[in-house]
Formats: sequence, C-alpha cells, structure tokens
Amino acid sequence: MLPLDAEHTLRPVRIGDGAALARAYTANRAHLAPWEPTRSAVFFTAEWQEQHARQCVEDAAAGRSIRFVIESDDGEIRGRVNLNNVVRGAFWSADLGYWVDTARQHRGLASRAVEKVAGYAKDELRLHRLQAATLLHNVGSQRVLAHNGFERIGMAPKYLKIAGEWQDHLLFQRLLEEPLSPPREHP
Ligand SMILES: CC(C)(COP(=O)(O)OP(=O)(O)OC[C@H]1O[C@@H](n2cnc3c(N)ncnc32)[C@H](O)[C@@H]1OP(=O)(O)O)[C@@H](O)C(=O)NCCC(=O)NCCS
Repeated sequence: MLPLDAEHTLRPVRIGDGAALARAYTANRAHLAPWEPTRSAVFFTAEWQEQHARQCVEDAAAGRSIRFVIESDDGEIRGRVNLNNVVRGAFWSADLGYWVDTARQHRGLASRAVEKVAGYAKDELRLHRLQAATLLHNVGSQRVLAHNGFERIGMAPKYLKIAGEWQDHLLFQRLLEEPLSPPREHP
C-alpha cells in the first residue's frame, strides 16, 4: 500500500477486487470510452472483473504485468495504473497505462500514482525503461507523463485500436536509471 494523498492509496490488484472493479468501470464508462478499446457488456460485470483480477495476480507472480488500483479510503477503486508487457532480455522495458475516476481528476492523483509505479519499476523490477502511448489530443495524459520525466520519442501511425478505430499515438519513454532532475551541486 503506497499513500497518494490523505484519501487515496495505490496497491496491486488482488483477488476479490472484481465487484469494486465492475463498479468503477461502470461509473467511468463514458469517461473512459474515447481512450480505451471498445468494451463488451460482459466487461462491466463483477464476474468478468473477478476473472481479470485473478489473471492480474497470476501475471504479477510470473512477472509478466504488474497492475495497480488507486483505492479511496471507503474501499472503492478510483483508478488504475498498469505495467503491462514486462520484457527482460535486451529490453528491460514495460508499457505504462493509467486512468483516474472522472470525479477525482485534476488533483494530482495520476501524476503521483505514475511516480510511485515508476519508482517500483526501477527499484523492485530493476527495469531500464517505461514506454507510454497517448492519443495525439490526450493533453491530460501528456501532462502526467511530462510531470514524470517522460520524453516524446515518436509518433506511431495507427498504433492501437481505441474506441473502435486504429488510431495514431504519440510514444513516450522514461529511462529509469536517469535522475528526474540534475543532482544537486555540493559546494
Ligand atoms: C489523463 C488522466 C489520467 C489524468 O488524471 P488526473 O489525476 O486528472 O491527472 P493530474 O491531476 O495528475 O494532472 C496532471 C496535469 O494534467 C492536467 N490535466 C488533467 N486532465 C486534463 C485534461 N483532460 N485536459 C487538459 N489537462 C488535463 C492537470 O490539470 C495537471 O496539470 P498541470 O500540469 O498544470 O499540473 C485522466 O484525465 C483520465 O483518466 N483520463 C481518461 C483515461 C486516459 O486518458 N488515460 C491515459 C491514456 S494514455
């Protein structure tokens, strides 16, 4: 459990999260629709989400993907941060994704949660880099990445099928060995 602010913490997805995940995705269906793959009706059920939570726990144990929830102090899920496709070998990289509850935006939750997950990727997983992709007009997401030291590395045409269309994305990376700001000078 990592604190984000007085009301919210970040923790890995766990078995038993299905009902809370279903409530969170149902409450945020319209908010997330322009930024995510098209979801079928079953995605919003507690049963499907519980199966997904089990998969998350298995993937985390195998080191394939580590997925977190932002939880408020009433036990509800208010967002997600995912480290997907963890690849080692010559790459030591993972894909970063995130969202925050529509009613809790603009209070720094995504920026702080990404900061914690980047720290986890660096210190616990020992990854070399994180990659993120945003739609060209997703200014909010680009601000979150800028706050966390990501640099733009390119534009990938028709990169992901979002909201039913293959859409162009801006690609960003952060090299985790590098400090976010220059080290302080000592006299
Ligand atoms: C993008 C998103 C995660 C931002 O979450 P958040 O908790 O509101 O982000 P923060 O509060 O940390 O905001 C970071 C900055 O982005 C700005 N911002 C947030 N949403 C914005 C928006 N829709 N438009 C413009 N700026 C936005 C904030 O004002 C803040 O500005 P600052 O740089 O002056 O500090 C959230 O809007 C969301 O869930 N969007 C839908 C899903 C999504 O786009 N996920 C990312 C896919 S790549």
